[in-house]
Amino acid sequence: MNYHIITYGCQMNEHDSEKIAGMLESMGYQETDDHAGADIIVFNTCLIRKNAELKVFGKVGSLKQLKEDNPEMIIAVGGCMMQQKGPVDELYQKYPQVDIIFGTHNIHKLPSLINQVKHGEERVIDVWEEDKGLIPDLPSKRRNKFQAWVTIIQGCDNYCSYCIVPHVRGSERSRPLEDIVDEVKKLVADGVIDITLLGQNVNSYGLDLDDDYDFPDLLSELAKINGLEKIKYMTSHPKDLSDKLIKTVARNDNISKHFHLPVQSGSSRILKAMNRKYDREHYLGLINKIRDNIPDAVITTDFIVGFPGETESDFEKTLSLVEKVRFDMAYTFAYSPREGTPAAKKADQISSEEKHRRLQALMDKQNQISYEVNQELIGKEIDVLVEGESKKDPDYFSARSDGNKLVIIPAKTKKLIGNIITAKINEAGSWTLYGDIVNN
Ligand code: 5AD
Ligand code: SF4
Repeated sequence: MNYHIITYGCQMNEHDSEKIAGMLESMGYQETDDHAGADIIVFNTCLIRKNAELKVFGKVGSLKQLKEDNPEMIIAVGGCMMQQKGPVDELYQKYPQVDIIFGTHNIHKLPSLINQVKHGEERVIDVWEEDKGLIPDLPSKRRNKFQAWVTIIQGCDNYCSYCIVPHVRGSERSRPLEDIVDEVKKLVADGVIDITLLGQNVNSYGLDLDDDYDFPDLLSELAKINGLEKIKYMTSHPKDLSDKLIKTVARNDNISKHFHLPVQSGSSRILKAMNRKYDREHYLGLINKIRDNIPDAVITTDFIVGFPGETESDFEKTLSLVEKVRFDMAYTFAYSPREGTPAAKKADQISSEEKHRRLQALMDKQNQISYEVNQELIGKEIDVLVEGESKKDPDYFSARSDGNKLVIIPAKTKKLIGNIITAKINEAGSWTLYGDIVNN
């Protein structure tokens, strides 16, 4: 029996898919790359932008014939999109090929939902509005032996006015520090050297708990674990990034010097309308503080262009912020109205053409800066974790720097995979660095 999982969206979803894979394997299923040959196909969906939703409907729609030819095949759809009534109703009514609909708060129930369908139930919908504090620790099928994701906080309380996440992932719930430390110790004993801590806003870790610890305290505890060579985390909210965090990162060699700090806009007026709770000056002050304490910090960000009411002058402030900060990299998005969020109700929506013009102008500027910043690395020696064969060419390995930059190196020996080695950079583009292996 084979399974195939299709994942959309962020790392939280990728990590949930690892847990789904773990459960399916314990039921006796094996992973297949070929969805047509699968006995069960699971969709883990995203709804952060309209495009993500359209992709899911398109892909589920394309399976109609396959399901007609093979009625025994089970199609299950879960993830953030299923936490909203609209998409659930549409899937249920217009896509009879879907057997199971489940939510983000009850992924642990998937095996029993599959069994219900196998034992004759026609179609099942089981979506919880909240997690009821019941989600057990689920074994993950990790993408490799040496890296792992670890969730530290679920949900988000920030209610940025454009964002659907708090509406579907619920309010912030931190995991107790001891549970996280235990999990990481087990992972390290199992060969993991590189972990990424996950949360919609890791900086508010611990604030919802009675105990008196915060995110920097958690990092300091984890940094003490022998054999744990790299601790990464995402995502940080600029309003909550503390001096204590910067000092903790600066002090510990095994904490990544990468700050992914989504700014969204360079205009204080738009930031206020977005309910981001910081302004341009605060953000620029943070960047200075990070660079004063950690000169080689890699700083990346997210931008949304075309937020309702964004004028040309607001957009120019975004462009000027890009020039001022000189980010290593930025994810750039055109604003996508999400039903149920305050921004979607605003009258002054920007036309699609204008949003895309601004998006292109922003991408052009950032790509040029990424190129220039990466060029400065040529001739330098940096530590990289060798992740595996390069997707494009098996004669090369892909590796990641401390700042998460992709570094392509010659595939010398398989023994390098899973180790941190030194590479000398000899070529650099906006997205990728190329290097040679030094003394390994
Ligand atoms: N439209 C466009 N981009 C969005 N993001 C979140 N919501 C929206 C939306 N409605 C972007 C933000 C966030 C990233 C994960 O997705 O930039 O940081
Ligand atoms: Fe969405 Fe804002 Fe929460 Fe990020 S911090 S998940 S953008 S509401």
